[in-house]
Amino acid sequence: MIRPRRNRRTEAIRSLVGETTLSPADLILPLFIHEDDSDKPIASMPGVTRWSIEGCVREAGVAHALGIPAVVLFPKIDDALKSPDGGEASNDDGLVQRTVRALKAAHPSLCVITDIALDPYNSDGHDGLVRRNADGSLQILNDETVELLCRQAQSHARAGADIVAPSDMMDGRVAAIRRALDDTGFQECGILSYTAKYASALYGPFRGALDSAPKEGDKKTYQMDPANVREAALEADLDAAEGADILMVKPAGWYLDVIAEIRRRTPLPVAAYQVSGEYLMLRGAADTGWIDGDSAMLESLVAIKRAGASMILTYFAKAAAARLR
Ligand code: PBG
Repeated sequence: MIRPRRNRRTEAIRSLVGETTLSPADLILPLFIHEDDSDKPIASMPGVTRWSIEGCVREAGVAHALGIPAVVLFPKIDDALKSPDGGEASNDDGLVQRTVRALKAAHPSLCVITDIALDPYNSDGHDGLVRRNADGSLQILNDETVELLCRQAQSHARAGADIVAPSDMMDGRVAAIRRALDDTGFQECGILSYTAKYASALYGPFRGALDSAPKEGDKKTYQMDPANVREAALEADLDAAEGADILMVKPAGWYLDVIAEIRRRTPLPVAAYQVSGEYLMLRGAADTGWIDGDSAMLESLVAIKRAGASMILTYFAKAAAARLR
């Protein structure tokens, strides 16, 4: 009789037949930073801290020592520095740029990734430039935004970012950023593209952390419809042709089919972002005692890898790495 249970009989056999592994080396830790000398808890994201530059450098060091190879930075920008064109995004002395320099000086072997988009800097809270049409509706301008994103990416590369990660979903931005980086001598700076970023309800806690929610309207004219997967394939083909080094799907857990589809389509590495709402659904259920938090955390991450992701951005990175060691 064929008995699949024979391969599940002992821990040793189970480890031999395991199809997917999860290790700290697969994880990327998102870090929130602000212009303040002290580190503060984030009200909309229990268990997550907004760091001073010094605190961020310390936290990145702890994560790196746990085997986490990379961090990605998200800045909370003071209201006084926000403007319609988000010009602060490409200030070489801005918060992100100074933090990148401090991180690379303290931890040369840490991979530092930065977010490319205007929403933390834009007084309208959108990822791109906003124009109001005659009928009162809002339009997010594509090509004008891409020019600003190129300047932001060049500024991050000058500060020493290893990889820039455009999260704005404007058309053509990967090709434009690649050219802008190559033209200024940053051929080695990589592009992790948010290839299939959905207009998701799961980003709410993150927008609270950065105070970056749109002042008006939503992001559905640039972020994707959760109903679509063929459209993700189109975005993946375009990003690969435009020169992206890594393709990302976001959110992760409700979009495992999208991860699998992109994995099948491209030889490029695939990343997935377990976003703030996914983190808090698990945390919330664990904190009330409804589920075993550690087991659910590891199961959610292994499922994302099983679907085809090579790396995962997750607020659980430190906790997971500690459990996996
Ligand atoms: C914006 C950006 C968002 C996230 C990462 N970059 C939010 C948004 O698109 O509104 C969300 C991450 C999370 O929810 O954890 N460029």
